[in-house]
Amino acid sequence: MPLSSAETQKLYDTYLMSNYGRAPLNLVRGEGSYVWDAEGKRYLDLLPGLGVGGLGHCPPRVVAALREQAGKLIHMHNNYLWEQQALLAQRLSELTTGMETPRAFFCNSGTEASEAGIKLARLWGRANGGRHKILALNESFHGRTFAALTATGQPKLHNGCDPLLPGFAYVPLNDAKALEKAFDGEVAAFMCEPVQGEGGINLCTREFLQAARACCDKHKALLLYDEVQCGMGRTGDVFAYQTLGAPAPDILWLAKALGGGFPIGAVLARPSVAAELKPGTHGSTYGGNPLACAAALAVLDTLDQDNLLPHVRAMGEHLGRGLHALRERFAKQVKDIRRLGLMAALDLTFPGAPVVARCRDAGLLINCTHDTVLRFLPAMNVSAAELDAGLAILGKVLEPAGQK
Ligand SMILES: Cc1ncc(COP(=O)(O)O)c(C=O)c1O
Repeated sequence: MPLSSAETQKLYDTYLMSNYGRAPLNLVRGEGSYVWDAEGKRYLDLLPGLGVGGLGHCPPRVVAALREQAGKLIHMHNNYLWEQQALLAQRLSELTTGMETPRAFFCNSGTEASEAGIKLARLWGRANGGRHKILALNESFHGRTFAALTATGQPKLHNGCDPLLPGFAYVPLNDAKALEKAFDGEVAAFMCEPVQGEGGINLCTREFLQAARACCDKHKALLLYDEVQCGMGRTGDVFAYQTLGAPAPDILWLAKALGGGFPIGAVLARPSVAAELKPGTHGSTYGGNPLACAAALAVLDTLDQDNLLPHVRAMGEHLGRGLHALRERFAKQVKDIRRLGLMAALDLTFPGAPVVARCRDAGLLINCTHDTVLRFLPAMNVSAAELDAGLAILGKVLEPAGQK
């Protein structure tokens, strides 16, 4: 018998740090777009693993690959070879467009991928004109470790952590003029999420990314995309820059959905840039171990064999229609809808946390970011019926707040 949710909460209250706002549910099982708590209540999860569950909970190919690989070789350090890492690098490299044959570095999380991407850009910048400065966007999110946190353009997340790293500057989203102005002789790279996740599902426009590419080329700097949240099929293509029709970057990184629930991050860089990560310049004890790579290969197999990308596009449209219908019904409560593929936001005119809590009580899991933004990152294999069921719950929850 599992501990009850209340018993589990008590242990958390006594033994864990309180850095997360946690719902008092002891979750014991997951399958596809559903999870169950210790009391046996089922929840429809339209945000599985906060983007990690790109294939939902416990995707069968990933579970099978982990079981098989765990019985063979779980871990080795990166002074040897294992074919799973080589095959994963090949698969990811072949899925990029416009990056020649990028080379991979593997780590264990999004923030580590950001660190590696930033460090590689600095190593490259120092070797190419002695430059070090990194430009990033306001409202961005790149992780919680120091370089990633510094690059994160949200002052509220910096509070109390100063001094941050020197050599970072920020520009507003989709403001090509401000970006051009920020380039000086010190800039090594401009980095952005093609679709900002934590910042509230804010899309970079194709024109802005084209201007960013042109600026980087003109000033001999690198263009970096953080696709930790928006990559791995979520927008209807493997990479969000492809869905946006935007120019290819020089360095790109992934994490979250890449491992289907198992921790892994990946950095891909054009060969001429990747060459700066020379022996001894960077590393990770666990990075890309056999188990993690086996999980990621199973994720790529699933995307491919289940032909999921067209499904993501179709379900994204379906979700978009459902959100627009809610906006029609609740015009006073809904300020905006932003979406690319299955990455969507319903921006409210009031704080969203109580709405999230009421949805949870009614059996629907979503979250709220940037105070007012309800965020949906459903599994890429979600069904139209599941999306409809989730939106019906949300509609009921919004009803007491009044219709238009
Ligand atoms: C775009 C982006 N980069 C980096 C991160 C950090 O990832 P992790 O929490 O795995 O360190 C996140 C997490 O939400 C993210 O959305």
